[in-house]
Amino acid sequence: MSAEIITTDRLSKFYGSIRGIDDVSIKVPTGGVGFLGPNGAGKTTLIRTLLGIIRPTKGSGYVLGYNIKSEINQVRDRIGYIPEFNTSFIPDMTAMKFVAFCGRMNGLANAESKQRASDSLYYVGLGEERYRKLGTFSLGMKQKVKLASALVHDPEIIIADEPTNGLDPTGRTQMLELIRNLQTDQNKHVILSSHLLRDVEQTTDYAIVFSEGEILAQGKIKDLTSGRSTSISVKVKYHQEQFIRNLKDKGFEVWDEGGFIEVKKFNDTEKAIFIAAYDSGAEIRYFGSRSSTLEDVFVDLFRNKEGIQ
Ligand SMILES: Nc1ncnc2c1ncn2[C@@H]1O[C@H](COP(=O)(O)OP(=O)(O)OP(=O)(O)O)[C@@H](O)[C@H]1O
Ligand SMILES: [Mg+2]
Repeated sequence: MSAEIITTDRLSKFYGSIRGIDDVSIKVPTGGVGFLGPNGAGKTTLIRTLLGIIRPTKGSGYVLGYNIKSEINQVRDRIGYIPEFNTSFIPDMTAMKFVAFCGRMNGLANAESKQRASDSLYYVGLGEERYRKLGTFSLGMKQKVKLASALVHDPEIIIADEPTNGLDPTGRTQMLELIRNLQTDQNKHVILSSHLLRDVEQTTDYAIVFSEGEILAQGKIKDLTSGRSTSISVKVKYHQEQFIRNLKDKGFEVWDEGGFIEVKKFNDTEKAIFIAAYDSGAEIRYFGSRSSTLEDVFVDLFRNKEGIQ
């Protein structure tokens, strides 16, 4: 297999005069990739174009060597797709029936579709609940059913479009773990589309960054983010004011962000935080990297779009 699972060359999709994606040339490496970008950046448009759901206005694309225009059946056979919006589940249908039905739609024989449906539902953690009706499922469970139905025909690539939307923190973690583990447990290539860098970071180490229909950057996340200013989040108990004063006195930029004390990274920031806490008598209760949004980390990429290669 080549080192790339998907390539596109100047792929564009315009909805009338509205730009969906414009001149998108990407190379998606094997393993896992995050499609990162704010709302309206073109992630879903690219995914739907790759799946042949919408036809490109111009340009070309290949999935595992198959042409997305002329060999779309071969492309679809090889992709399991978790759409962004809620699949219209029939409330009275059991999870088993639904996933097996998806298997049949993907060309599996009856017995095989049942076996694969059962295996897939067990894989996503819904083995015990597989004969329950979908109408009784929580949103998190429904997302897992969507993942199971994407897996049922054993595709080589899984594309998950914003699969954590609307989920609580536990649901998010479970979903991201499942997607990450697919790479190691089942040798799948995964594409996770999200507007949150932290979701992508937890799942893959490679990202393609979108903005307004264009690609801003692609590469390993650690290379894309290296050298960009980030901050450290701290929570302290006791003497918070003094702790903040100590840091400011040493020249650190400090601000409040949703109840966290944010300290902009500078020289030896970590050490300075511990010294400031010790000197002020504050007790550190939380210490970690800020869970950056895409905008936080790539803010200068967005600002200087013209300068990006
Ligand atoms: N069916 C459509 N008709 C007209 N314009 C559309 C259509 N679908 C998408 N667009 C436009 O194309 C652009 C890209 O949208 P797209 O849904 O691909 O972005 P996205 O990155 O998936 O955003 P989100 O994070 O909100 O899902 C947006 O300006 C959007 O309004
Ligand atoms: Mg979208």
